[in-house]
Amino acid sequence: MTRREDRTSSELFDKFSYSSPCKEVIGPEAVLLRDFASAAASELMAAIATVTEVSPFRHMVTRRGFQMSVAMSNCGSVGWVSDRTGYKYAELDPLTGNSWPAMPESFRTLAEDAAEHAGFSSFAPDCCLINRYSPGAKLSLHQDRDEASFDWPIVSVSLGLSAVFLLGGLDRNDPLRRTELLSGDVVVWGGVSRLAFHGIESLEDGTHRFTGNCRINLTFRRAR
Ligand code: SIN
Ligand code: FE2
Repeated sequence: MTRREDRTSSELFDKFSYSSPCKEVIGPEAVLLRDFASAAASELMAAIATVTEVSPFRHMVTRRGFQMSVAMSNCGSVGWVSDRTGYKYAELDPLTGNSWPAMPESFRTLAEDAAEHAGFSSFAPDCCLINRYSPGAKLSLHQDRDEASFDWPIVSVSLGLSAVFLLGGLDRNDPLRRTELLSGDVVVWGGVSRLAFHGIESLEDGTHRFTGNCRINLTFRRAR
């Protein structure tokens, strides 16, 4: 079997590899779509550069005043932000005072297709949180619960360096499943797992041809 890195771009754009990716169940109503975003990765990387020229990556602070190790930006009609008042969705980027950049079509299409593939139809994300992990950055175990409704799934796209994704249950102390996420992998969770605890272990050092020394994650949600 050819390694992903050895494939030619025409193979990567092969409709078959895009429309029939492996689907691995990693929890109740939680699936890993291996490689689902690989064909679109270059386009996504270009769109990330465009978005973050307008709304740059920044390290937000938590309610308790700790600076997050993950650098973040957003696109869409609202963006997820954290500050001393807590977590919320905001229509304006607090750094620029302007609206967040519109969600690129390539983002939207990928997120909607991934949700559909995972069994969640009609997903229409209004927010994409863009997370950038440098070596040593991590995301502690948390639930995504700042959205108006939990009826919609979460679609999470990995690009660049690999990372270990932790997926637990509805209780913080439930056992965790560890999954290594590689560039191009997409995880979708919703339904009974919508409020499952999850996180990312501290990123290991490395280099990737798309991102250099970091990992980028796109998290799509319906916030409102
Ligand atoms: C998140 O939980 O918002 C991000 C998860 C990831 O980086 O894969
Ligand atoms: Fe999350």
